[in-house]
Order: sequence, then structure tokens, then C-alpha cells
Amino acid sequence: MSELVSYQRNGSVGVITIENPPVNALGAGVRKGLVDCLAKGNADAEAAVLVLIGGGRTFPAGADITEFGKPMAEPDLNAVITAYESSGKMVVAAIHGTALGGGLELALGCDYRCASSNANVGLPEVKLGILPGAGGTQRLPRLIGAEAALKMIVSGDMVKASDAHGTGIVDHIVDGELVVGAVAFAQSLIDEGKPRRRISDMTVTAPAELFEGFAKSIARSARGFKAPFACIESVRAAVDMAFDDGMANERRLFVECVGSPESKGQRHMFFAEREAAKIPDVPKDTPTRDIASAGIIGAGTMGGGIAMNFANAGIPVTLLEVNQEALDKGLSIIAKNYANTVKKGRLSQDAMDKRMALISGTQDYADLANADIVIEAVFEGMELKKEIFTKLDEVCKPGAILATNTSTLDVNEIAAVTKRPEDVIGTHFFSPANVMKLLEIVRAEKTAKDVVATTMKLSRTIRKVGVLVGVCDGFVGNRMLHDYFREAQCLVEEGALPQQVDRVLYDWGFAMGPFAVMDLAGIDVGWRIRKEQAATRDKNLPYPSTVADRLAEQGRFGQKTGKGWYLYEEGSRTPKPDPEVEKMILQVSGEKGISRRAISDEEIFKRCMYQLVNAGANILDEGIALRSGDIDVIYIYGYGFPVYRGGPMFHADQIGLKSVYEDVCKFKEAQGAFWKPAPLLKRLADEGKGFSDL
Ligand code: 3HC
Ligand code: NAI
Repeated sequence: MSELVSYQRNGSVGVITIENPPVNALGAGVRKGLVDCLAKGNADAEAAVLVLIGGGRTFPAGADITEFGKPMAEPDLNAVITAYESSGKMVVAAIHGTALGGGLELALGCDYRCASSNANVGLPEVKLGILPGAGGTQRLPRLIGAEAALKMIVSGDMVKASDAHGTGIVDHIVDGELVVGAVAFAQSLIDEGKPRRRISDMTVTAPAELFEGFAKSIARSARGFKAPFACIESVRAAVDMAFDDGMANERRLFVECVGSPESKGQRHMFFAEREAAKIPDVPKDTPTRDIASAGIIGAGTMGGGIAMNFANAGIPVTLLEVNQEALDKGLSIIAKNYANTVKKGRLSQDAMDKRMALISGTQDYADLANADIVIEAVFEGMELKKEIFTKLDEVCKPGAILATNTSTLDVNEIAAVTKRPEDVIGTHFFSPANVMKLLEIVRAEKTAKDVVATTMKLSRTIRKVGVLVGVCDGFVGNRMLHDYFREAQCLVEEGALPQQVDRVLYDWGFAMGPFAVMDLAGIDVGWRIRKEQAATRDKNLPYPSTVADRLAEQGRFGQKTGKGWYLYEEGSRTPKPDPEVEKMILQVSGEKGISRRAISDEEIFKRCMYQLVNAGANILDEGIALRSGDIDVIYIYGYGFPVYRGGPMFHADQIGLKSVYEDVCKFKEAQGAFWKPAPLLKRLADEGKGFSDL
């Protein structure tokens, strides 16, 4: 028998226990062990009923994702579940932790299910670009109804066992030790003469409109994804087909999805996100500092959002501003944001009050003396930041982490004004800071390892995805974005229009095209930076920002002024092409002696995408990002890159770096100046490797 699954008897109840840490994934050894132990239980004359339970922290959290795309060792999960469903003796699943995917499907192959009240159940396969492939789309609708099953399967969200209790998913909640409660529950089923219960024998009905309406309702949010629609199709088969036919249909859809580029991209993200949490020279057991209180300097756009993250996590936070007016304004915007969430029914008034009570305002640095972390989020200016860090160095307690939210400035230079540069780090939040999941954590030259470890941990506490980056202008995300925006503007000067460029990238899957993003972020932001850097700009290079400058000079700052690259009607965020802008673009092309040409969608896509990839390659080579997967995580969580494409670096690997490199060389020939093939891209292309081979 496999040591991953064991069988013991407890009175007249046979207990099958899975021990495959950390999450009891249902890999080949577990599957074999499950079948062997079931046979053992059925053969045990002393056992009247069987209990299936996970050892350690959880019931199985799913199939073993690392096995996808490889030949499947026998028995497959469907065969295991069929064996449990047709077991000679009644089987009761005992759930704790997270019974997810194949784990929940296995539990649905049992007659009854009991669970700890704090357990969670779910079918999150859709998040990996697949559908439940071990009967989940056939058994769950039969058990809880088609509509409820659609909601769970298409969202992939977990449901608390206490909420699943009574739906059929969970029959009994166990208080106290699970195995003890499960054995007692199983015994009671036998004592009470409860019948066997095979979900595959049940039937479910639902009108066709349910599925059509559901597909329509997700059309926008699931744009570009394959799996959500396959999930709907498969659940529909539970209504329309006999069980075995529905299972065959599910298998067909599962195989299609698992082999799709969309699923490969989503699975890459699953592992890249977990990899990003690991820092090679900062081991997992590095001690961390306690973060029980926070201070924030500046209650503007970013400071307010950052404060909300702490309050949401139950950490008291003090906001410091220059004067009462700025403080009141910042606090009132926070209150307005929370009130909107309450209005939408996503937060209770009581929870809002508790969160607001955690946020206090001050103008006195002495109030930050006891903060465990202080994050500076004032205007972007080196002298001002230095002044603030000098003050923080004076007032903050020893061991406090001093962080800056700068998006462009040198964190080493900021750290150098303090007597404790080892406590200084960059925390680059993205706007709106209370919404965006990404947090670039900027490690400066002298940042201590425990400060890195603490900040990475803090990112999880405040529900962000933290990615460690090094110091350079723009860090990872904005440095790449700069080249991408620049190329988009070159394309416009050469012959494209903003709406064409945006359409190409939106249709490919980006949440927004580059010009719509510039309008959202504010055209004035880049304009100010360009003015500041005008003196040091390399005058031998072309200047593709002339149109952007002229827009800004006319006060067309983007959405906030109702006009930018596009027009925005009062109260609308929908960009409308503006003939005035087109006229301006044509004029600028003329002034620069550029004879405009029709540019193909393919050229637009490649030039924008390969600028991202080429910049990413340089960033990797310089060690500013630790792994290509980290860059992918940054782009997906911070820049609206479609998750089903796996991120820019993963996507380049899928295309093949040789092909990417050759195109980059072609663009260098044709466009010159801004196309310098990254040495790493050339090296990997020559070696026939991808970024993931590094
Ligand atoms: N297969 C393989 N490895 C898995 C895994 C799985 N299903 N689930 C988690 N792991 C690994 C992680 O990669 C991680 O490995 P690492 O330590 O080497 O980085 C380790 O287990 C711990 O995972 P987390 O760091 O994510 O631990 P958390 O405690 O934060 O979260 C969890 C636990 C909620 C279970 C989370 O890991 C998770 O969501 N896992 C995926 C669940 C899932 O998608 N299940 C469906 C799988 S597909 C399926 O079942 C197909 C079926 O329908 C046929
Ligand atoms: P903002 O202009 O909205 O807010 C800055 C706030 O700082 C203002 O409320 C101002 O009163 C306050 N302030 C100025 N001097 C101060 C001082 N001496 N003491 C206390 N408070 C002071 O600016 P925003 O957009 O919030 O940016 C803040 C920082 O975050 C900047 O470094 C910026 O580069 C960075 N950042 C901005 C992003 C954005 O999208 N807005 C994204 C990521 C980083």
C-alpha cells in the first residue's frame, strides 16, 4: 500500500487518511493509495462504514497541478471517484482546511460529507483555465441545482463549510476534533439505517435560458477566457444528458482546456505568484518584525489608499499631513470610498465604522514615534523626501521600517540621509492603492534581510501580491511601461491613430490600450517629468512625445479634464476618438517630415509587445527582477495584462525568443533609435532557450 494513504479502524468505522503535505494534492501515489485503502476497508469485516479524511492541514486541495500536460498514471482521478461511489460500504468524507477542485470532487463521490465549521469548499479550476474534470460539473449541479453550481464553478470562489451546510455539499458540521466527530457521524448514519447516496443517480433540471443568461452576464468580465464558457457548457450537459454522457462531455472539454494556451498561461501564473514570494538569499525562516501599527506621510491619492489597506487588515494607522485642510480632505475621501462600498452592499456599516476608527490624523511627527512602519507618500521630489526621511530618522523608534512610495526616485539616495539605511525600503503601491493587488517592494543596497522578509509578509497581510525588485528608474513595471508608451506614440507619429493602437491591444486582451491608460493616469504626469528631464535628454534621439506635450499644453490631461487623447462625455469613462486630436497628430507628423503610412495590426502588436519584452530582458539581466515570472506577475497584477496570456515574458517564450529577437532586429533596421536588442534576448535566442530556462 502507498504510504501516502493509510487505513486504520476506529471501532466499527474504517478510517482512510491521506498524508501528502502540504495540501494533500491528488498525485499518482495518492490516487493509487486511495484505491488500495478503499479495497482494504471494504475487505475489513469489522468495518461497517468508512471515513475519508486528510491528514495535516487540509482535505485534498485538488489534483496535482504539476501533472497537467504529462501522461496521467493509472488510476486517474475519475476512476478513483467511481471506485468510491460504487464502494461496497458507505463512505463519509470528513473535510477540513480547503477541499478544492479534485478534492471536492472526491468528496462528492462519497455518500455523505461532514466538515469542520471553518473549512472551505470550492471548484477553483476555472482560475487555472480549466473546468472541474473529475465529475464536478456533473455531480455538483445534481446535488445543489444548476444555478448554484454555475455560480460556484464559473466564479471558482470558495464557499465556507458553514454556508455549504444544508445545500447538500455539507451534511453535518463537526465541532471539535474532526476525526472524532466524523467517526461518530458515520456511526450514527449506520445506526439510523440511513441509505447509500450516489449523486450520479440524481437528476437535475433547468431551463435553457439559465445558461444563455449566465453566459451573457459574464461576457464582459470573462472576455478572452475560454474556461468559464466551457464550465457553462459542461454544467448544461448535466441537465441535458445522462450522467455517463455528461462525464464524457466534461472529459472532452477538460482535455481541450488543459491543452489550451489560456490554461498554460494561467497555470504559469499560479506557480509564478508563489515563486515570487521566495527570495533566494532571504530564507523562509528569516525572523520578521511585528507590524502592529503604521504611519503614513501624505494623505493624497496614494497615502489615503495605502491607509485603507492597513485599516482593512485591522492595523491602526496614523496619517500625517502638512495642514488640517489637507488632512480633512484625505480623511473625507477615505470615508467616501468606504461609504461607496457600503452602498454597493460589499461592506457593512459596522465594518466601515471599525475601519474608520483605526485611521487617525495628525500634523505632529511625535505621533509616529511608536509606529512599526512608516510609509512616505508625499509629492515626488528628492529634496522633500530627504527632508522627511531625516525627520523620520529622528522620531521613529529603533527597528521601525521606513518606507517610501516613490515611483521614480533612487531609494538608496533617500536611505542615505538616515543613520539606519538598513531599515529603509521602497513600497511601490499602484493606483488606486486600496484596489490594485500589486506591490513592488524595492530593495535598496543596504536594506536588511529581515526588513525584506517583513515587508514581503506585510504584503500578504494587507492582501497584496508583493514582488521584490531592485533600484532603477521606474523599477520593473514603469520602466517597461515607459518603452511601451513611447513605441505607441512612435506608431501614431508614423501613421496609426490612438484608437487603432488601443483596439489592437484591447482585442488581444489588455484591459485598456496604452492611450486610454495615459488618459486615465493623467497626461500631465509624464509631461511634468519630461519638462524636468528636458535638459538631460539625449537630443540625438527622436522625440515621440510632441503630441502628448501639446495635449497637455492645451489642458487636455485625460479623463480628469474630460479630454486627452480621447474625448469623454460628462460622467463617462468611455473614450471617444476626437477629430481635433487626429488633426494634431497629422500636423505633427507633417512638421517632422514623416510620410504617414498604413500600419498593420500585427506590426502594432509586435512593436508594443516586444518593447515590453526587450525592456524586461534588460531588467532581468541587471538583476532588477529576480525571475522572468516576477515580471509576469507585475504585469498581470499591476498593468491589466491578460492573465490567460501568462505575462509578457511567458508570452515571449511561447512565441519563441528566436522569432522575437529576429523581429526586434528588423525593427532596429526599420525604426532605429529605440530598438536595441537586449543582450540577454540575443543570448537566449542563440541558445534556443526561453526566459523560463534561466
Ligand atoms: N497541485 C500541486 N501543488 C499545489 C497545489 C495543487 N493542486 N495546490 C497547492 N500546491 C502547492 C503550491 O504550489 C505551494 O508549493 P510551494 O510551497 O512549493 O510554493 C504549496 O502547495 C502550498 O500552497 P500555497 O502557498 O498556495 O499555500 P496556501 O496555504 O496559501 O494556499 C491553497 C493553499 C488554498 C490550497 C492554494 O494552494 C490553492 O489555491 N491551491 C490550488 C487549488 C486548486 O486550484 N485546486 C484545483 C486543482 S485542478 C483540479 O483539481 C482538476 C480536477 O478537477 C481534475
Ligand atoms: P498627491 O499629490 O495626491 O498627494 C501627496 C500628498 O502629500 C498631498 O496630500 C500633500 O498635501 C502631502 N504632502 C506634501 N508635502 C508633505 C509634507 N511635507 N508632509 C506631509 N504631507 C505632505 O500625490 P500621490 O499621487 O499620492 O503621490 C504620492 C507619492 O506616490 C509620490 O511619490 C508618487 O510618485 C507616488 N506614486 C504615485 C502613484 C499615482 O498613480 N498617483 C502611483 C505610485 C506611486
